[in-house]
Amino acid sequence: MKALAIQGSPRNIRSTTRRLVSLVLEAMEGEGVETEIIDLCEFRIIPCTACDGCSLTGRCVFEDDFPSVARRVADADIIILASPVYIDNVTGQMKVFFDRLADAIHYQTFSGKTGCSVVTTHTSGGDEVISYLNHVLNYLGVMTVGGLIIATGGDTSAVETVREQAISLGKRLVAAAQLGYHDPRQEADMEANRNFFRDIVLENRDLRPDDYYRWVRMGWIRDADK
Ligand SMILES: Cc1cc2nc3c(=O)[nH]c(=O)nc-3n(C[C@H](O)[C@H](O)[C@H](O)COP(=O)(O)O)c2cc1C
Repeated sequence: MKALAIQGSPRNIRSTTRRLVSLVLEAMEGEGVETEIIDLCEFRIIPCTACDGCSLTGRCVFEDDFPSVARRVADADIIILASPVYIDNVTGQMKVFFDRLADAIHYQTFSGKTGCSVVTTHTSGGDEVISYLNHVLNYLGVMTVGGLIIATGGDTSAVETVREQAISLGKRLVAAAQLGYHDPRQEADMEANRNFFRDIVLENRDLRPDDYYRWVRMGWIRDADK
């Protein structure tokens, strides 16, 4: 089993968020899970220009590092989104990455994985950002098992005060990925999303037959929809 943390702070190894998500990953390694962190600031990801190219072909018109990150997301069973709060939101690096996921969201490419979110902040915005990150995971078809926030007040050693919560989150993630996890509210939201995106998959059926037939196999498109 593989877990991937996507880390949005530009502070890289000095990042408090990276330290916090590393605790969650360590707990998972203790359960035999292979883990990896992607520091988005190390990757060149060009912002989406809404050209619609990906919708027609499944590939972005830009040649950058996004496909290599997307491949690692595809390979992972567990996805953790980790971001500091920057002006009440995720970092720019994280948002640019999210916009490039629009096609994966429409076609539910990463559906069926398990995830959670991790956030650090000085004081404010933690609850809102964790909700947003888990909402993005649900958009992707990833079932979430919660999250972890710390408001450090500027004392980065405060991360240690939530070590036990980080370990418990890591173990909860592994159990959910191994045994399955049900949450009727998230399941209903994800079904509503698929109903919304179904028209895009139907419309592009001839251009993207592999995606279309994956939706048929998943039972998300019925014969009557054709
Ligand atoms: C550009 C910028 C914007 C920030 N905005 C907020 C904010 O809106 N609210 C807050 O409480 N802290 C804010 N912070 C503080 C960070 O959220 C906090 O220091 C966080 O733990 C940094 O994590 P990192 O070391 O992983 O980058 C901001 C920091 C920066 C650099």
